[in-house]
Amino acid sequence: MTDKLIIFDTTLRDGEQSPGASMRKEEKIRIARQLERMKVDVIEAGFAASSNGDFDAIQAIASQVKDSAVCSLARANDKDIARAAEALKPAGQFRIHTFIATSMLHMEKKLRMTPKQVYEQARLAVRFARQFTDDIEFSCEDGSRSEIDFLCRVLEVVIAEGATTINIPDTVGYAVPDGYAALIQQIRERVPNSDKAVFSVHCHNDLGMAVANSLAAVKLGGARQIECTVNGLGERAGNTSLEEVVMAVKTRRDYFGLEVGIDTTQILPTSKLVSQTTGFVVQPNKAVVGANAFAHASGIHQDGVLKARDTYEIMRAEDVGWSANKIVLGKLSGRNAFKKRLQELRVVLNSEAELNSAFLRFKELADRKAEIFDEDILSILSQEANAVLDHETYRFVSLSQHSETGERPSAKVVFAIDSSETVGEAHGNGPVDATLHAIESQVNSSAELILYSVNAITTGTQAQGEVTVRLSKAGRIVNGVGTDLDIVAASAKAYIAALNKLNSNTERLNPQCS
Ligand code: KIV
Ligand code: ZN
Repeated sequence: MTDKLIIFDTTLRDGEQSPGASMRKEEKIRIARQLERMKVDVIEAGFAASSNGDFDAIQAIASQVKDSAVCSLARANDKDIARAAEALKPAGQFRIHTFIATSMLHMEKKLRMTPKQVYEQARLAVRFARQFTDDIEFSCEDGSRSEIDFLCRVLEVVIAEGATTINIPDTVGYAVPDGYAALIQQIRERVPNSDKAVFSVHCHNDLGMAVANSLAAVKLGGARQIECTVNGLGERAGNTSLEEVVMAVKTRRDYFGLEVGIDTTQILPTSKLVSQTTGFVVQPNKAVVGANAFAHASGIHQDGVLKARDTYEIMRAEDVGWSANKIVLGKLSGRNAFKKRLQELRVVLNSEAELNSAFLRFKELADRKAEIFDEDILSILSQEANAVLDHETYRFVSLSQHSETGERPSAKVVFAIDSSETVGEAHGNGPVDATLHAIESQVNSSAELILYSVNAITTGTQAQGEVTVRLSKAGRIVNGVGTDLDIVAASAKAYIAALNKLNSNTERLNPQCS
């Protein structure tokens, strides 16, 4: 058995299935390129048959990403598989990931198929996929709750048909570490041709055990691929978190004895990019990428760390992308200093024009804020990426608002609808409420606001505020993110971003609901 652990990232597919996390093509490409920079082995770029938008994004990623294998999900039917192959064609080498549910519950209640039919469909699907590529992954959905005898029979036949990776998902996050590891181990022992495939795990976090289950299956069950997402993004309680499994295997190499190819210094920039793009904020105490992950508040710990770092630190902050000196630039910093900092952050922009435009944003911010931190730079880059989407219906222009103790706040928002400017004015219970009402007075979206959250990008009162707004309308949920030194302006930007997403027709099929 090899000592290489394959990291399969599904942020752009399973992660995107979280409510409101759906991303546009440009956003997906940007994240895929960052995943490639981080040296992820396999990028699951989407589910090609789910929508034309997903198809286009996979096709673009397949033509741009060279160092990671690109993959598309496909249900176990010819139509989905052919669509996946078509989208992936520009990659040359690619993976098709096909799946069907194998638990009695799913087969009976969801698929309304007999085990015999499922067995046959799985076999034919892999046989069909084999004509497009020799890199085929087969997943038995709800694998952790499937009967082992049936699982073994299905897996034997799909491996015989050419599946090279076998994934056993814990689809509903029900497994416990030793039971899940034992299941993988038993399958590997019982399936006669199991040595012809790499075994993979894919865990959901409903009971908070996704990372533990994945690592147990690797250590005790012999799995050699972990499917995971950046920040643990995913439906319900999310998926296995990439940064946690990677750092566990790296930090405890003595225990796991495995190699991972990830460039860990890219972990934090990737985490920031994903949270700013999707609007899913990272909790401060989140392992590895949370704002407090390396902050030693207690005096005893600080003293220990100052005397000898390893008294309380098991990883080095800089190894996962936190910079030692966080105050980096200011008003007087020139283009070269900005460019150098981008290089230090290992950020690559696509063209000189992009660099110039990002530098202009930096200058604007530096005029209003004395110290520019790395986090500010990363947020500028996210805004820069979103500027590509400025052809959208609504665009923020300016805001004025008035609030005084004892008075009802009012706001006036100037924004563009298509290319003509409009002005919305309203009162509200607070400045943010007034601002959102002012926008709605012109838009009348009838969307329901289901989440509003503010997060400071850095520390101190000079910090930029990052606002996330989640809107729901006719069963669709979208997130909008806005950043500004003024949190009311950030709120207006976030609300407008969410309206634009509601407006865009990114309806897609959920692979597991159909
Ligand atoms: O959770 C799951 O079972 C999945 C499969 C489609 C791989 O996401
Ligand atoms: Zn999943």
